Amino acid sequence: MQIIRDIEGLQAVRKGLQGSVGFVPTMGALHHGHLSLIQKARAENDHVIVSIFVNPTQFLPGEDLDKYPRREEADRKICELAGVDILFMPDVSTMYHKDEVKLKAPAYLGYILEGHRRPGHFDGVVQVVMKLFNLTQPTRAYFGKKDAQQLRILQKMAEDFFLPLEIVPVDTVREDDGLALSSRNVYLSDEERQKALSISKSLKRASRLIMAGELNVETIKREMMEMMQAIDVEYVAIVDRDFHPLEKVQIKNTIILVAARVGETRLIDNLWI
Ligand code: PAF
Repeated sequence: MQIIRDIEGLQAVRKGLQGSVGFVPTMGALHHGHLSLIQKARAENDHVIVSIFVNPTQFLPGEDLDKYPRREEADRKICELAGVDILFMPDVSTMYHKDEVKLKAPAYLGYILEGHRRPGHFDGVVQVVMKLFNLTQPTRAYFGKKDAQQLRILQKMAEDFFLPLEIVPVDTVREDDGLALSSRNVYLSDEERQKALSISKSLKRASRLIMAGELNVETIKREMMEMMQAIDVEYVAIVDRDFHPLEKVQIKNTIILVAARVGETRLIDNLWI
């Protein structure tokens, strides 16, 4: 595995790659969720590039940029064992210039739900992912369905800018007890972790209700909220795949999204119907 930290080095190596390239952008603190992205990229491509870059432009003032977990050595080993060919680990001054040309997330999709709670977050995501796509020129890029809104925005960016690549959605990986894997789970105390389980339990409840024929969104939301009384729920949203609110669940065209604070930690999870 080659570790590259500079732009020229990455561009030179990318030029020499023949065949398909799978790209997995990450912010590090890699867990099994990332590993499943990397494994899929490995299975479907001739070459695999992973980037680790804690992107400052997608953090709002007061968010956890400074305390975001950084585990370079462990991440490097995980990538090596997973068969990654190139690990790109730039620093901030490598990725960003002064007074840059800026991309903006879509006015609707970029500013509802996560974008409403974290205004400007998705602007930072599209800015950095476009840079990373231009550098790595992937055939396929892999993103987790846990960040459903990010995934949709990046699919739209690829469509809107005619990018010659495929965005591949990958299922959320969960702990045995249902907690969705996230780099931010390390912030949770044991007690908070137990409380956080109510998020995935509420999604399971929603799934059971839908399987039993309940399609009314307000009823499903109410039942979910009842299960999450011990945590600070920011939103429960039931939307179609383009993130328009629904009154009735549409089978194969619905995402149920939850964002909640457990103690100081903000968690998101979702269920695709
Ligand atoms: O999902 C993430 O980890 C980040 O938002 C991404 C896509 C690596 C961009 O910084």
